[in-house]
Amino acid sequence: MGSHSSGMSPDDLKIWLNHFEYHAEHPRCIPPGLADLLRPEERALIASSIATFQLGEQSEGGTLLRAAARFARERELPALVRIVELFIREEQRHASLLQSFMEDHGIPLKRGHWTDRVFRRLRRLAGLELYMCVLITAELIGNVYYRVLASATGCQRLRVLCRTLVADELVHVAFESQLLLALRAARPAWARTLLRSGHRGFFAGTASVVWLTHRALLRQSGYDARTFLRLCLAQYAFYLEPVSLPLSTSVSGPG
Ligand SMILES: [Fe+2]
Ligand SMILES: [Fe+2]
Repeated sequence: MGSHSSGMSPDDLKIWLNHFEYHAEHPRCIPPGLADLLRPEERALIASSIATFQLGEQSEGGTLLRAAARFARERELPALVRIVELFIREEQRHASLLQSFMEDHGIPLKRGHWTDRVFRRLRRLAGLELYMCVLITAELIGNVYYRVLASATGCQRLRVLCRTLVADELVHVAFESQLLLALRAARPAWARTLLRSGHRGFFAGTASVVWLTHRALLRQSGYDARTFLRLCLAQYAFYLEPVSLPLSTSVSGPG
């Protein structure tokens, strides 16, 4: 199979590789000296919720690396393996940034949570495409969650921490969605339709479970199940259902 058959060219990968290498050398930092006061009632509200997300950020990434290596070999895209390695390292850094915040505020780490176990098991099921479907689901919802958390807390360090994570995650979802759409584009139309509706259903189901398991914090921040789901689905649509207008429509303009 040729190197362009994935729909992601070696030039695209070079741009992603540059990005991840740069950020590996210059990781985003939380500036020292930020106000770090977390009120007891705030701590009680976020402790269990933030611990579940911290757990989700932790991964050795073995399954992803193996899937990426297999795929990269088949499609002759060696840069992909390095990108994935650096990506995993960035996620581990997220886990450690969250961990040090939690430790400083006496918030216990979680060893496991059923939602985390389900995600890990699903990701082990198949190749790169399914892995990416599950991963981008978690990342898109995580992004919405971190933004809600940033707006919910009065703690300056936590606000900056959430924004730092979001800055990285926006790049992650851009990379993952490009890869996923490229993989999908190589499939026949019926399979694309099936995958698209299956993924959207899985995404909506997951966002609903996240709302249920984090509802104390989300409700307090002004998100009921419907508004949270709407927010998550808008992110999903932005990255995974890009609108492609026919050229004649996009250039004709009004009147
Ligand atoms: Fe992350
Ligand atoms: Fe991420």
